[in-house]
Amino acid sequence: MEKFSPTEIEKAMARRVPAGELTAEKVAEQEIIVSGWVYRYRDQGGVLFVDLRERSGILQVVFDRAVSESLLQMADALRSEDVILVSGRLRNRAKEAVNPKLATGEVELLASRLAVISKSKPSPIPLEEFDEETAEENRLKFRFLDLRRTPMQTALRSRHKFMTWIRNWFDRNGFWEVETPILNKSTPEGARDFLVPSRLNPGEFYALPQSPQIFKQILMIGQTERYYQIARCFRDEDLRKDRQPEFTQIDVEMSFISQEMIMQHMADMITSSLREVFDLNVSAEVPRISYHDALERYGNDKPDIRFGMELIELGEWAATTEFQVFKKAVENGGRVKGLCVPGGAALSRKDIDELTKWVAQDFKAKGLAWVKVAGNTLESVVTKFLPEDSQKKLIELSQAKDGDIIFFAADSASVVFPTMAALRLHLGAKFKLIPEDQYKALWVVDFPLFEYDSESKSVISLHHPFTAPVAESIEVVTRLGKKSSRDLNAEEIKELLAVKSNAYDFVLNGNEIGGGSIRIHDQNLQSCVFRLLNISDEEANERFGFLLTALQYGAPPHGGIAFGVDRVLMIALQRNSIRDVMAFPKTQKGLCLMSEAPSSVDEKQLRELYLRSVVPKKEGAEKA
Ligand code: AMO
Ligand code: AMP
Repeated sequence: MEKFSPTEIEKAMARRVPAGELTAEKVAEQEIIVSGWVYRYRDQGGVLFVDLRERSGILQVVFDRAVSESLLQMADALRSEDVILVSGRLRNRAKEAVNPKLATGEVELLASRLAVISKSKPSPIPLEEFDEETAEENRLKFRFLDLRRTPMQTALRSRHKFMTWIRNWFDRNGFWEVETPILNKSTPEGARDFLVPSRLNPGEFYALPQSPQIFKQILMIGQTERYYQIARCFRDEDLRKDRQPEFTQIDVEMSFISQEMIMQHMADMITSSLREVFDLNVSAEVPRISYHDALERYGNDKPDIRFGMELIELGEWAATTEFQVFKKAVENGGRVKGLCVPGGAALSRKDIDELTKWVAQDFKAKGLAWVKVAGNTLESVVTKFLPEDSQKKLIELSQAKDGDIIFFAADSASVVFPTMAALRLHLGAKFKLIPEDQYKALWVVDFPLFEYDSESKSVISLHHPFTAPVAESIEVVTRLGKKSSRDLNAEEIKELLAVKSNAYDFVLNGNEIGGGSIRIHDQNLQSCVFRLLNISDEEANERFGFLLTALQYGAPPHGGIAFGVDRVLMIALQRNSIRDVMAFPKTQKGLCLMSEAPSSVDEKQLRELYLRSVVPKKEGAEKA
């Protein structure tokens, strides 16, 4: 009678109730059925306590000799992660046994029948508490077990809630969800493409989309007006904790729309979702900063504005010193920036040496001069180069107080800005200046349309080639866009680099979580931009002919944006890596440790695709 027959199990599953939702109000005489995994168990001689765990939570199940000796014996053989089905009566726990940490902590199920549905081998990873120590490698290899842990369950549930909320928002606001192809022509977003060989077209390849960019523009030309898609994107780039080779975007495009209107809609969408889904205190008013000011004040284009400690402009001041390094930097067209760290005088020589080594290694900074403010004097090896007036001026510019330290970077802008941006974040965290529980959003606007790439000796797009220049600059782009930027003189390049675009990035707590722009809807202007980007007319036709053609058949003004779903979740759930908010992420080397993708394929498959591998077999096998 304590056992279930297979047909009884089938019937019982239909009556199963969520174990984690059983609270004192549900205590009743009749039998209920729960099932899930054996989490913990304690044998108290004659009574066995099993914590049963499933998606909804944890419930204590009691097997008592007083109920049945054979039932207790069956339960005694249970081990962690076995799957069981239990029927019994819910009862209140004795007062001293109440567990306030558990939602079901006031009750327990007194078991009368048990079915062991599936046995588990001992788990190779601990599931008990969230264990930062557990090597991520093992967690990814045994993801089916890792997914059972509370942090991963929370991540999956939140992700689902977020997506559902987003879909409802778009529906309410008149957007259509449209799917765009995965087997594609290349969409440039600045990364390498993943290629898929075409069996039916020997020697030809599809590219997986880096984003649905061109297709969503074509949808606007196709009268869709308001589009969104929860879109999977693929980029073959070097991976970091906020980057995956495949990731998900909330991809949006709108017609008959201005930059201002898009920014308002999107700020509403994303900040409301953060408030309503994640219960975060994010203001609906999102401040704006220009790309130029972001660089000058924070050193990068995704500033974390939860704390101050802004960079100090010391270009003019440098001339008042006798320190050749500072003076030379300015004379050579470089920059001098300072960073005043409150309380930073506590840093030891060893700390400073380590920082100096770090910025040299990671940002090619040739040094990291510093002065400590101690009473009325400045302490440093460079003080001797700072005349009294210069010292005074420094205190004035930096507002430094007793006990602070000021760091200096003097070099080309491309060294000074990244160095100071990283130093600001590092020291901000070290000195606990960043309020971890705050959420501050920011729009970065007024991006240049192009930047100079010394490697290709031409300009490249800061956003992507479809981004529109501001109206005032259309004349410049069409005038200069008769040839490649490689063939422009220095004056013309300068003029081109001054052109601003209608692009905008959405930044949350120092992370770029979204980016978009108003697009070019004029075929001639688009062709000019391609030419400037050193894409010949022939190549433009070959790669983007379908867009150039479509632009000649009545293209409405349009623009849009894409948000990185994984990044939003990582920040909202305060996780260290986007791998912790994805069910099946890849490692830094692009591997799925569970399925062991990518893997070699057999010769026959390659032959059918007209492919031959030039990599010796062994090397492929060594990747793991
Ligand atoms: P962009 O390339 O800026 O713009 O991408 C938009 C957002 O996608 C997220 N993201 C990533 N997330 C995880 N892993 C990656 N490798 C990765 N790369 C990007 C970021 C980023 O802000 N088509 C344009 C959008 C537009 O113009 O409408 C685009 O893809 O959160
Ligand atoms: P030196 O005169 O080379 O011994 O350097 C004196 C101090 O200036 C040291 O603390 C260096 O780290 C620092 N320093 C050297 N070059 C730079 C630079 N380009 N920017 C900032 N500090 C520097």
